Amino acid sequence: MTTPERFPDVARVDARDKVRGATLYGSDHHPQNLAHAMLAVAQIGRGQVVTIDVEGARNVPGVRLVLTHLDMAGIKADGYLFGTGHAFQSFQPMLGTAIAYRGQPIALVVADTLEAAIEGTSLVRAEYTTEPFSVTIDAAGAETLAQADLPLPKPMFADRNVGDADAALSSADVTVEAVYVSPPQHQNPIELIATVAEWDDDTLTIHEGTQGVNVVRHGLAAELGVPPEKVRVISPYVGGGFGQKNSLQAQTVLVAVAARQLGRPVKLVVPRAQLFHDASFRPFNRHRIRLGADRSGRIVAAVHETDQQTSRHDLFPSLYADASSRLHGIANFRSRERLVRTDVQTPGFMRAPWEHATAFAFESAVDELAYELGQDPVTLRLANEPTNDPISGKPFSSRYLAECLRRGSAMFGWERRTMAPGSMRDADGTQVGWGVASGAYPASTTPAIARLRVVDDGTISIEVGVQEMGQGARNAVAATVADVLNVSAAQVTTLLGDTAGAPPHLTAGSWGTATAVPAARQAALDMREALRKLGLEDDGRTTPQQILRAAGRPFLEVEARQRAPGQPEMVFERLDQGLLALGGPEYPEYVSFSYIAHFVEVRVEPNTRRVRVPRVVSVADCGRVVSPRTARSQVLGGVVWGIGASLREASEVDPRYGGFLNADLAEYVIPVNADIGDIRVDFVDEPDPLLNNAGVKGLGEVAMVGVAAAVANAVFHATGRRVRALPIRIEDLL
Ligand code: MOS
Repeated sequence: MTTPERFPDVARVDARDKVRGATLYGSDHHPQNLAHAMLAVAQIGRGQVVTIDVEGARNVPGVRLVLTHLDMAGIKADGYLFGTGHAFQSFQPMLGTAIAYRGQPIALVVADTLEAAIEGTSLVRAEYTTEPFSVTIDAAGAETLAQADLPLPKPMFADRNVGDADAALSSADVTVEAVYVSPPQHQNPIELIATVAEWDDDTLTIHEGTQGVNVVRHGLAAELGVPPEKVRVISPYVGGGFGQKNSLQAQTVLVAVAARQLGRPVKLVVPRAQLFHDASFRPFNRHRIRLGADRSGRIVAAVHETDQQTSRHDLFPSLYADASSRLHGIANFRSRERLVRTDVQTPGFMRAPWEHATAFAFESAVDELAYELGQDPVTLRLANEPTNDPISGKPFSSRYLAECLRRGSAMFGWERRTMAPGSMRDADGTQVGWGVASGAYPASTTPAIARLRVVDDGTISIEVGVQEMGQGARNAVAATVADVLNVSAAQVTTLLGDTAGAPPHLTAGSWGTATAVPAARQAALDMREALRKLGLEDDGRTTPQQILRAAGRPFLEVEARQRAPGQPEMVFERLDQGLLALGGPEYPEYVSFSYIAHFVEVRVEPNTRRVRVPRVVSVADCGRVVSPRTARSQVLGGVVWGIGASLREASEVDPRYGGFLNADLAEYVIPVNADIGDIRVDFVDEPDPLLNNAGVKGLGEVAMVGVAAAVANAVFHATGRRVRALPIRIEDLL
């Protein structure tokens, strides 16, 4: 089947509603008689609740209910998403006396007003016994585990080992070795984590921003002990997911229980300070990289060893070498990944969860190698492009990283760069640095069901398993249907994010487009065929509405089911149950990744040593671009986040008391408009010929992969300082 031609740039189909404020997010729902909830949280780093006094809270005027672990009979934890469950961690707060980490919820106060609920939480008094805890990976009591020995899905989480990396390293002409560190970070989407729960008899409706309504439905039903059919979860829009909203949250069941006990709808918006402890985060990680090359610049060996923080109660796995082993054509590669148990909530997925940190480490090391060899870093990368996947030996379904590097170089003016660190300066002494890095991200796919309906009143609507979280899923789906049916994207209504519709898989891992678009395209192709049987001509003028009217048919409906290459039909059962069912990046016949190259200019002021990023050029290979406008926005966002991750963001751990210290947007520093200069984005826009019927791969996460390395490499080029721990701060450059 031929893949679609280049898509036109269509305006966001949801833009008008968004700018008018008409788009309703989860916590925008205000059912009649709504009660408001707030959480009281633990003040210790680890231990047990001995007594909890809620009298003061109950006596606040307007407070209607206070829930503690003593009120949760019949509720059970659903389980961790990497096991049999749907939750971001196996540990569900308030089901017992255990305190696993500072900031863990210990009581939910529900009142007529939010103010009364907040006042109530301030009067909850708990007494604890305390236990020693460790919140950093080098602290006494942190437990280091070799991931290869742990009960995690293999081969996904096995160490990578091809050729003989150690032997090739020891005989290499040139070697580099260094350790790179990335700090814990928190997602901080604008839409806070929030739940509105409403019971109607024995049926529960949840409004909550989530990347997976079906995940929440099944997880919550298991926690409550009710049939999943009795739980409806609605999330047509998400105000930023970034992995934080990709699983069942800890507060959802608490709000549902409160609403059931009170016989009133209840809303909880988790405040930002609590979000730092109530949801997953990007864990601390450390990489030791060794590279070996021959004099000509052929990279012959790499060893990638990592330590990543996890919680005491779960194994959030690491997958750092999945991208590093494929980014270049290195024949001898060995990885060893370790997890370190610490006393925190379970960390998890945050945009490019492994690939961002891997690219910072690995692409910094490749830059160090370029300087050891005295070779231009773009030339070095181009000389190490693989023909086949170095790990499996399979071909890549498509790979245009070299084109990204070449086109990016030309757009940036890279040929004017002088190699020596400190060699480019402004008249006032400002040091100018140009850095480059590449990135890769798995092109995974999950099963999807699409239901397309055309009606003789002109309505064209599609229901398909993908969550809109601002990334542009609606645009991509609407553009796909519009392209096949020869209508405008604005005419296509997209029904997403509701368990009452076709069951959606969790939308994460940059698989949304490559999951929903092929299903939507198949449904549209089937619809076109059905219309053709009714007399539709390929004249570009008759509309589906005209065909239906002429044929006397009130409507037509088709359903298409798509799954990842190589997936068995039974994956649809996992889809139904809200469980993970992803295919790729290694498929039976080929390996699929998306790619990007980033070119960054930094300017380091001579006296203050402040680093500015006046311009960036990023060129991505995400297969066919279905929605140019939202795709470009995705890359802009990824670059901005990469600048933040390299120069601003870090969650500061408090080793004395546990928890994270800078739990607000004043102290957790993210870039503002004044930090961002000119960002130019381009796409190779060549369809992947094998992965699916639309030629699409993923984009959301690869957008960010490599930005931090390009910034760090530019800082080295400007100053001669190689900073190997993020974020890069003024004090690193004094
Ligand atoms: Mo995304 S970090 O895979 O939800």
